[in-house]
Amino acid sequence: MILSGGPASVYAEGAPRLTREQVDIGVPVLGICYGMQLLTDLLGGEVEPAAEREFGRADLTMSDSRLFEGFETGEPLPVWMSHGDRVKRLPPGFGAIATSGNSPCAAMASADDRFFGVQFHPEVVHTRRGDEILANFVHRVCGCEPNWTMGSFLDEMKASIRAQVGSDRVILGLSGGVDSTVVAALLARSIGRQATCIFVDNGVLRWREAAEVCAFFEDFEGIDFVHIDAADRFLDALAGVSEPEAKRKIIGRVFVEVFEDASHQVEGARWLAQGTLYPDVIESVSPGGGPSVTIKSHHNVGGLPERMSMKLLEPLRELFKDEVRTLGAEMGLPHERLWRHPFPGPGLAVRVLGEVTRERCDVLRAADRIFIEELRQTGHYDRIWQAFAVLLPVKTVGVMGDVRTYENVCALRAVTSTDGMTADWYDLPRDVLARCSNRIINEVRGINRVVYDISSKPPGTIEWE
Ligand code: XMP
Repeated sequence: MILSGGPASVYAEGAPRLTREQVDIGVPVLGICYGMQLLTDLLGGEVEPAAEREFGRADLTMSDSRLFEGFETGEPLPVWMSHGDRVKRLPPGFGAIATSGNSPCAAMASADDRFFGVQFHPEVVHTRRGDEILANFVHRVCGCEPNWTMGSFLDEMKASIRAQVGSDRVILGLSGGVDSTVVAALLARSIGRQATCIFVDNGVLRWREAAEVCAFFEDFEGIDFVHIDAADRFLDALAGVSEPEAKRKIIGRVFVEVFEDASHQVEGARWLAQGTLYPDVIESVSPGGGPSVTIKSHHNVGGLPERMSMKLLEPLRELFKDEVRTLGAEMGLPHERLWRHPFPGPGLAVRVLGEVTRERCDVLRAADRIFIEELRQTGHYDRIWQAFAVLLPVKTVGVMGDVRTYENVCALRAVTSTDGMTADWYDLPRDVLARCSNRIINEVRGINRVVYDISSKPPGTIEWE
């Protein structure tokens, strides 16, 4: 068992908990950060508030241990710390196996090599070779074979979907993004025509997006696909609204209304399939635990499951994004569908700053299309987490030919990230930027100035609104 300090292992409903019985029957345990303190408490050691919080990089000095097999113990290992409390007295029978500047006991092990605790976070990228430490625990201490493959997961998942839904009908809100695409493919392969995919065009999608989603899914392995063009309804509801959160709420509300209407047309639908991922499950956990601990309704479809009183089918809820992509590849889905940049549910409504009109969306779509086309052609697209154009509610003076212009400013944004929680701006070469700027100003009517966003997150966010 890996007992992390995160809410999933400590508070989540149904999450594994360390009990006295497990300790007694000999389950190997690795406690991470707060998990190490829990383990210390449970096994008779003592935890105290540290005089100074240890946060950020620390150098770990290791001694010989199964957990550190394959490491040179003489060399300090950069690790990531984030803790206030620390272990004051080890549980009986334990020894310290590492120290850091602020923690005399930065890692511990029981004499029989069954219990381990680390005060640092081996699971974050800032800890060098943290994955090897975790692998040592899983393979060397627990003796687990690495035989979990995407192929076996896929077979199990198809069987589990069939067993769960029986002969009921299932509906899926399909956005065309990675997660819902993979869920659609899973449904197609497990229950085929019992599934209906509903795709809502909200009028704030990217250039040719709706057409591409329809072309891909209309004949997709015999799945039942419904396309609803609700662009007018969304754009009418957005008219005159400039405040970002108000725009988000409107889009969420109209989506639920449109989707609910459409789902009533599907007779006998009992299940709502969702592309909930493991990070959504973790984020939905409330630190106090208790009955409010349920899965976060996906932020694009807020409130949908509750309103529709349907049973939820969430085949991806144990997977991370990269695993979803691997699963999609295992099913033979095309690379460009699986490696698309994330796109927010409120779409261009949060990229057309200020009021959203059909005309302004068209201007932005044209600029965004050029930017993405250039990134694909120059091979940068796959190295970037997310790239897009933003239309600013600012006009500037320019000169084209010998005519004075007074048009819109367009900002280009490209960031690298691993999960969208933090991000850094992408250092696009000058010639690529120059081409994008030239083409946008020359080809898109209504834009006469292009700027490149060089803000990181934090303190900026990825989207502008
Ligand atoms: P921010 O702008 O918060 O974005 O740095 C982080 C990630 O979330 C996406 N995003 C959204 N996705 N509905 C969504 O489905 C939203 O309202 C929303 N706002 C931001 C954003 O595109 C990025 O991937």
